[in-house]
Amino acid sequence: MRVLFSFRIPLVQFRRSLWAQAAVYSETGDAASVLRVVRRQLPELNQDSVVVKMLAAPVNPSDLNQIEGTYPVKGHFSEAILEGERVAVGGNEGVGVVTAIGSGVCDLRVGDWVVPRRAGEFGTWCTHTVVGREQVLGVPLEWRQGVDALTVGSMKVNPSTAYRLLRDFGHLGPGDWVIQNGANSGVGRAVIQMARALGVRTINVVRDRSPEEYGSLVRELRLLGADVVVRDTELGSESFRAQVRALGAVKLGLNCVGGRMALSMTKHLSAGATLASYGGMSRQPVVMPTSLLLFKDIAARGFWMNRWYERCEGEERDSMWRGILEMAKEGRFVTQPMRISAWADVSLDEAQALVRTAVAWGAKHAFVFP
Ligand SMILES: NC(=O)c1ccc[n+]([C@@H]2O[C@H](COP(=O)([O-])OP(=O)(O)OC[C@H]3O[C@@H](n4cnc5c(N)ncnc54)[C@H](OP(=O)(O)O)[C@@H]3O)[C@@H](O)[C@H]2O)c1
Repeated sequence: MRVLFSFRIPLVQFRRSLWAQAAVYSETGDAASVLRVVRRQLPELNQDSVVVKMLAAPVNPSDLNQIEGTYPVKGHFSEAILEGERVAVGGNEGVGVVTAIGSGVCDLRVGDWVVPRRAGEFGTWCTHTVVGREQVLGVPLEWRQGVDALTVGSMKVNPSTAYRLLRDFGHLGPGDWVIQNGANSGVGRAVIQMARALGVRTINVVRDRSPEEYGSLVRELRLLGADVVVRDTELGSESFRAQVRALGAVKLGLNCVGGRMALSMTKHLSAGATLASYGGMSRQPVVMPTSLLLFKDIAARGFWMNRWYERCEGEERDSMWRGILEMAKEGRFVTQPMRISAWADVSLDEAQALVRTAVAWGAKHAFVFP
């Protein structure tokens, strides 16, 4: 990534010892049970590290899976976080502002915004942290100007996944159709908005709910750009089958649910289409009937954003993030609605309560650190 302010004289800040609050866990398990908020003294800044004050950090399903111990990227357990105990700090995504830099850091300066380079290296659910320069990526000022911290701090997982799914699968062009389940999820909402920007049309499957809730969800998704919204319970109906047949080719299915909902959605794909699975919210396997493989030549693929980040750095990643933030700036992309917990100047008990509440809600929650 091109970073602003490179080759400046390092600005070294000498500081008094800095204390932070952090949501930590010493053993894996249900996040609401194992997370606790502690007060920790941050280590001294060394020449290659930076002090980061967090600005915003979302709660993603994968963060909760990581704390449960069921996610392939494990939490970074260390004895350096709390004296005498091996713990990890929760959260993998977020944005913070650099408040001090080590003498050897030449390409960041105080006031720059940074995001974690890789998942699992340090936790983001904390007020402040000290990290190695290599563990963060700078977000250039011109990318983020006019965009709020929560949008910047949550671009790396859900919007980036949506961006890749629409570009890397199905060879989509303007006028093509995509069908997706979990359409009201963070990724699903980003897919709707990014598809609209590409001229790609979307069929959006959501779980059944009360008529009032469904009506208001349909309005919300349509405002984002959804072309068709349908309940999962209607997927198998003859009237919906006829409606899809009349639309034209459905070249891509996006699945974050698995189980029966994935199967009934896959049946609407056109011959030669791709089913891209990127999540498993139902915790049920993806089943692909032989007939869909043989007679419709459906290709089943998987996508994991972390794997993409391992492979693609530099301009490919930068242009994706620039593109997402540009859309946000222009009002063509909004992040999913999230419950916000303001985590600042609170006692340990208050911080503990807000962290427990946040993780008990599952995802769709974010911490902001005013
Ligand atoms: N592969 C990757 O790199 C990648 C990247 C980002 C996200 N993901 C995955 O994508 C999924 C969505 O993430 P997100 O942050 O966008 O989620 P989110 O905003 O929390 O939304 C969760 C979605 O899953 C639905 N859902 C929850 N439990 C379900 C169940 N038992 N059966 C069917 N649907 C269920 C919810 O529907 P209701 O509103 O009806 O509850 C909602 O649409 C997660 O599995 C996440 O881990 C993967």
